[in-house]
Amino acid sequence: MFIFNTVDEIREFVRSVRASGQKIGFVPTMGYLHEGHLELMRWAKRHCDIVVISIFVNPTQFGPQEDFDKYPRDLERDAQMAESVGVDAIFKPSVAEMYPSGYCTYVDVERITEKLCGQSRPGHFRGVATVVTKLFNIINPDQAFFGQKDAQQALVIRRMVADLNMSMEVVTVPTVREPDGLAMSSRNVYLTPEQRQAALVLRKGLRIAEDAVAAGQRDTFAIRQLVVDTIVAEPLAEIDYVDIYSYPELEPVTKMSGPVLLALAVKIGRTRLIDNIILGVGDKCS
Ligand code: PAJ
Repeated sequence: MFIFNTVDEIREFVRSVRASGQKIGFVPTMGYLHEGHLELMRWAKRHCDIVVISIFVNPTQFGPQEDFDKYPRDLERDAQMAESVGVDAIFKPSVAEMYPSGYCTYVDVERITEKLCGQSRPGHFRGVATVVTKLFNIINPDQAFFGQKDAQQALVIRRMVADLNMSMEVVTVPTVREPDGLAMSSRNVYLTPEQRQAALVLRKGLRIAEDAVAAGQRDTFAIRQLVVDTIVAEPLAEIDYVDIYSYPELEPVTKMSGPVLLALAVKIGRTRLIDNIILGVGDKCS
């Protein structure tokens, strides 16, 4: 497995792979890998000949009060994990390599970025869309893999790829969970044992909604309220948002007549966790 730090190096690698006619799968990450990331890489390995991942904690997608500085980083561990699932190359640029002095070009995806995480993290998706565009331009993959865990992000990338005529396929991979149902996240390491237990309330909220829909409930206001009541009952949890939108359009919806996205962002102590489920298609959060 190769590790490249510069754009020129990874470009050279990609060029030689492409010259031999091999299909390239790409998994962008911010590192501190877990099973969720590895699942994306396994999918990439199954669909493509060569798998490239990036590890880059992207400063432009973090707000000034967010955890950019303390975001967990461990390249040695990440490299071992990536190699264990057959990754062929890691691109791990520095901030200066991606945003050299004088940098001033950004990608803005409108409308679907104005709700959910876009509302509570202003500028977040501008940073994501910008860095992913840059990574796509550098690596030029045939397929790129994103997790359903970040449902809105996957939709934003799909929209951007379609709108800007980028010539690759976006593949969305189901959320990977811990045995007790907590969605895997690099940020779970911030949780104390007590907070880790309290964090199960996110999945509990999704399950209650799932059960209500299975029992015939179609009123999104009532479903949302059930979830809010569940989360509010956990003293260590503070709701950032609980929202339901049509899926994949992310339009407001009052009565369910097709698939909807129930998305949550909840702070447990100072750690902000997100989770989601698509209701109305038999999706399961367990
Ligand atoms: P990061 O949070 O490291 O996630 C990288 C990819 O792993 C994303 O596509 C995310 O949805 C996926 N992922 C994370 N947890 C998952 C889980 N439990 N199950 C399935 N997939 C999971 O998302 C980012 O980085 C960044 O915004 C990035 C796209 C790299 C741009 O900087």
